[in-house]
This record gives sequence, structure tokens and C-alpha cells, in this order.
Amino acid sequence: MERLIIKGGNSLNGTVDINGAKNAAVAIIPAAIMASEGICVIDNIPDIEDVHCLERIIEELGAGLKINKNSIEIDSTSITRTAACTEDVRRMRASYYLIGALLARFKEAKVELPGGCPIGVRPIDQHIKGFEALGATVTIEHGAANVKADKLVGANIFFDVVSVGATINVMLAATMAEGVTTLENVAKEPHVVDVANFLNSMGANIRGAGTDIIKIKGVKSLKGCAYSVIPDQIEAGTFMIAAAACGGDVTITNIIPKHMESISAKLIEAGVEVVEGDDSIRVISAGKLKGVNVKTTPYPGFPTDVQQPMTAMLCVASGRSIITESIWESRFKHLDELKKMGASAKVEGRIAILEGVEKLTGAVVKATDLRAGAAMVIAGMMADGETEIYNIEHIDRGYPHIEDKFRSLGADIRRIND
Ligand code: EPU
Repeated sequence: MERLIIKGGNSLNGTVDINGAKNAAVAIIPAAIMASEGICVIDNIPDIEDVHCLERIIEELGAGLKINKNSIEIDSTSITRTAACTEDVRRMRASYYLIGALLARFKEAKVELPGGCPIGVRPIDQHIKGFEALGATVTIEHGAANVKADKLVGANIFFDVVSVGATINVMLAATMAEGVTTLENVAKEPHVVDVANFLNSMGANIRGAGTDIIKIKGVKSLKGCAYSVIPDQIEAGTFMIAAAACGGDVTITNIIPKHMESISAKLIEAGVEVVEGDDSIRVISAGKLKGVNVKTTPYPGFPTDVQQPMTAMLCVASGRSIITESIWESRFKHLDELKKMGASAKVEGRIAILEGVEKLTGAVVKATDLRAGAAMVIAGMMADGETEIYNIEHIDRGYPHIEDKFRSLGADIRRIND
């Protein structure tokens, strides 16, 4: 069984390059199947399992793929199948973007309902509400969404909750609807903007991504383009927190510092020095941290996907830290694992109360989900002694070569497969 073994106690020093954003790439790859002519050449694609899963899924639909080191060429002109019902589709969350993409291009889609991290109930009612408003009929049968329309017509849609997935999925579907679609109360995450920019490069007419209202003027068809995925805000945040937690001096490059502001602000509050460059951030930490309160909110607030790494760091920050998780109802499973390492934590619903301890100690633990896995890696690097992390397939879904990157900064971390 594959696992990570970490000998804790080393400080982190040096430079680490951040890869393309997972949550942008996993939407851009399905969006590429909307091109009925030309080829999409997409650069800065992260080498992670969720991306490989999507590559297999769109190949199965009939797309031609050329996979290079950090880029892919997607020829979608040959796609004829509109049903995606494989184990890969069920395994990952972002496969739901196939619904919006297939509906836009073929006016029909049958897609098995998605899996993803066990972090709470993950409904898709807002996606369905958007597809129906555009004129589609949606039925859920035998675990799959069946979506069909004679034609799609632009509409005004006000989302009941701010949802990254619904914003992107309905934006995909509306790209080739007749007339104008207005989406209100949308998500403003950097990856939402990136997907809109990608669609515009393919010939779509989308304005307002990054604000509360997105306006989409339907176009007849989309064609291939060349595009580079934005850097991963969450991977960058994870490395910033790791540097702060372990102590040291780490420069995180190939990032957009603006995307990191909520994380930088919290690290500064915790007593860490954060220096912004044009496309980099340097984190300097003596490893002596103060407890802070953190509340996760949609962008530009503190990202829920960084909450778990941040919690690991705060386990050893002096005093009390109160963490409020306002996006997912069940994103504190990593605390049971951190407690095995000596953390003092109490969870009450969506609030976790941490009392900082002097140190964590190595233990055998598991990654309960993707970001929980990153939290355990950080905890292992901070702890006294050896930590073994199981279930690392979760980590591989979203962090490219995590052990190589941390090793290059001085961590004692290796992957064992026996
Ligand atoms: N929600 C609804 N109805 C919907 C959709 C969402 O009630 O139809 C609720 C959810 O239950 C949740 C909130 O709205 O409480 C936000 O959910 P959202 O739709 O924004 O989440 P998502 O699109 O399923 C993406 C990321 C997650 C990230 C969230 C929030 C992808 C593939 N996943 O999920 O990333 O936590 O946005 O930013 O983009 C991760 O990378 O580790 C991860 C879990």
C-alpha cells in the first residue's frame, strides 16, 4: 500500500514553483469538448489524478488527445457520444462539468452523478435550476443526470447559494444558448474567471466573471484555441502555510499574489513575515506562531480548501484559534487524525476550537480527503519523530508530486509502496 513517511523537524528553505490550478483545469478540460472545429492546446496543466481521470473520460467520449508534460492538445471535432457513465465519472466531482459542456454543444447529456471528497452533502440543485431555466429538461435516473433540450434560450438566473460548480456549469451551458443569459449571485473564484477567459478564447462572449453578475451573449459555435491555466491558489496557499508552520524561508513562484491576499493576511496576523513580489511570495517564519481565528467564505474570503492545512499549522500556535467552516458541513475529519499527533481540538458543528500545544508528535494517520491529506503532510513535517500517512490517493488527486516538492525545500519525506 502506498504511503508517505515523514521525519519531522526540518525547516523549509528555498524556492518552489506552483503548478496550474486543479479547479480551473478540471473545468477547462470538459469545456474544451465544446469546440466543434480546431484543436485546444492547453498549457500549465497540473500532473494530478483528477486531470488524468478527465483525460480518460473525454477520450472515451471520442476526443483525440495528445498529452505532453504540462500541456494537452484536445481535438474534440470527432466527439459523437453524449453519455459519460464510467467509473472515472463517478469517482470525481468535476465530471459534472460534462453536463453543461455536452448540453451546450449537443443539446443532450447523460452523465453519472459525481463523487469527490467526503466533506459534506454536495447537492447540484443550483446546476439543475440553471439548466432548466435555459430550457432543458433534467431527470435523475439510475444514478445519472439525463439532460435534454430542443434548444437553449438565454435567461436571468439568480443562484440561491454562491456555488463555484453551478456558476461554471451553467455558464458552459449558456455559452451557445440563443440570446443573453444573466447569472446573478455567482462565485468569483479565480478559477471561475479562468474558465470564462478560456471560453472567450474559444469564441464565446462572456462578461463580468470575477464580479457578482456574469452576462453571456450566446454564440453559434466555439473553436479550438491556445490557453494557459492560471496558477493554483490552493497549492500556493498550502506551501505558504507549510513554510510558516515548519519555519524557514520559502519563495513560492509562478503565482498571482492578489489571489493569495486572504491567506497572506492570516499568516501575518499569526506572526509570519510575508513579502509579495510580482509573481511570487516569500514566507519567512521563525516557527513561533500566534493563534488566530479563521472563517472560510467564498472568494475573496479565506478559501475553504486551505482551511485544513491552516488548521494543522494552528495546532501549535500559542493560545486559542477558532475556525469556522461556512462552506462545507463536514470538513474537520482531519482533526481526529491531528489529535493522534497530540493536537488539542474540539469540534462543535461547523466550528473547531484549537488550543495550541507545544509540539505535535509523529503517528500513523490517514488522509481522509484531499486537503486533509495536505494538512497531515504539514503536521508530519512539524512533528517530532516519524509520521506515516495512509490513503494518499486523495492527495494525488490534487497535489502534483507533493513529496518531491517538499523534499526540494528540505523536508525529510518519501513515498513507500509495498
Ligand atoms: N451548493 C448547493 N447547491 C448546489 C451547489 C452547491 O447547495 O447546486 C452548496 C454546497 O453544498 C456548498 C456550497 O454551495 O455548501 C458551495 O459549493 P460549490 O458548488 O461552490 O462547491 P463545488 O463546486 O462542488 C468547488 C471545488 C471545491 C471547493 C468549493 C468551494 C471543484 C472541482 N471543487 O466545489 O474544491 O471546496 O468549490 O470553493 O472546483 C478541493 O479542491 O479540495 C475542493 C473540495
